[in-house]
Amino acid sequence: ELGDYEHYMLKEIFEQPNALRNCLRGRAEQREGRIVLGGLADHARDLVKARRFILTGQGTAWHAALVGDYLMEDLAKVVTEATYASEFRYRNPIVEEGTVVVAISQSGETADTLAALREAKERGAMALGLINVVGSTIARETDAGIYLHAGPEIGVASTKAFTCQLAALTMLSVYVGRKKFMGQGQTQEVIDALCAVPDQLDVVLKTSEQVRDIAAKFVDRENWLFLGRGYHYPVALEGALKLKEISYIHAEGMPAAEIKHGPIALINDGMPVVFIATQGLQYDKVISNIEVVRARGGKIIAVATEGDTNIGRYSDDVIYIPHTIEPIQPLLSVVPLQLMAYHAAVLRGCNVDKPRNLAKSVTVE
Ligand code: M6R
Repeated sequence: ELGDYEHYMLKEIFEQPNALRNCLRGRAEQREGRIVLGGLADHARDLVKARRFILTGQGTAWHAALVGDYLMEDLAKVVTEATYASEFRYRNPIVEEGTVVVAISQSGETADTLAALREAKERGAMALGLINVVGSTIARETDAGIYLHAGPEIGVASTKAFTCQLAALTMLSVYVGRKKFMGQGQTQEVIDALCAVPDQLDVVLKTSEQVRDIAAKFVDRENWLFLGRGYHYPVALEGALKLKEISYIHAEGMPAAEIKHGPIALINDGMPVVFIATQGLQYDKVISNIEVVRARGGKIIAVATEGDTNIGRYSDDVIYIPHTIEPIQPLLSVVPLQLMAYHAAVLRGCNVDKPRNLAKSVTVE
């Protein structure tokens, strides 16, 4: 089943272009410029009327929820909150009328996510699922949903499920947004960008060897930072989680601006700091964050937009990814970070597909 790949994680990283094609097929209709979500059709009116979305999950699925928070507010213009399922359940949450809870889970069996979903339903929320495993417990307990169609994910590190979660959240945002304020022009722009992702991912995957060489330079360092702003803040969290989980290197991810408020004290000579520095609204701000880290001896590994001739002056290593609009960028920018974690783990001799102390799905709270 592994074919030419040494590990499931690498196979699943490389399956992403096709996983995304399957996730988008019949849903992101480029020619007609519309999103078709059969699973939500019976609930379309309630979704348009919804006053608040709560996106919930754990681990990587929670990172997808954080990106979803930006997407829903940016594109669908509806109040949205991303919350850890484990925290939502026990904080006596306020669920007003018109609340939609969206449970995000690869396995559909995560205990915390299931408990949060039940709690929200109990309090009157409509329940949607963004789930990969068909017929799983969470999928069965939701009112409606979008299956991810990522195919089986066997490696403990979640990779292709994450990018499909981002695609599903983008489609949900456009689906809701288009029925409210989104014009046809913007709708078409987002759909075109989303449909370009599978081919663009083929290009991103070509960086694998370069990423391995970068990983080799820093693999003995026990502390790494991952920084990004806006849509890339959750990507920074995800890059750090992947590295921790499979290579046992201590890594932290955070919004780039946050380092000034304490974590900058960690930076010492030679510390690897990964910046997602793609072109967009906050590019200049990211560059100044990079300069601050560099001045303190940090080694800058930048994920940047192809054709950016400026970034090289500020970075020790640059990994280029194709250009796309900001809401779609996380689908591309996360992939070099998945590869970084993979190569670092292999170089350190770790059991990539079955990291210590971890199980594929966490069925206890
Ligand atoms: O099956 P789920 O998506 O609900 O799993 C949630 C997390 O346990 C999962 O994403 C975990 O964080 C991964 N091992 C991360 O790679």
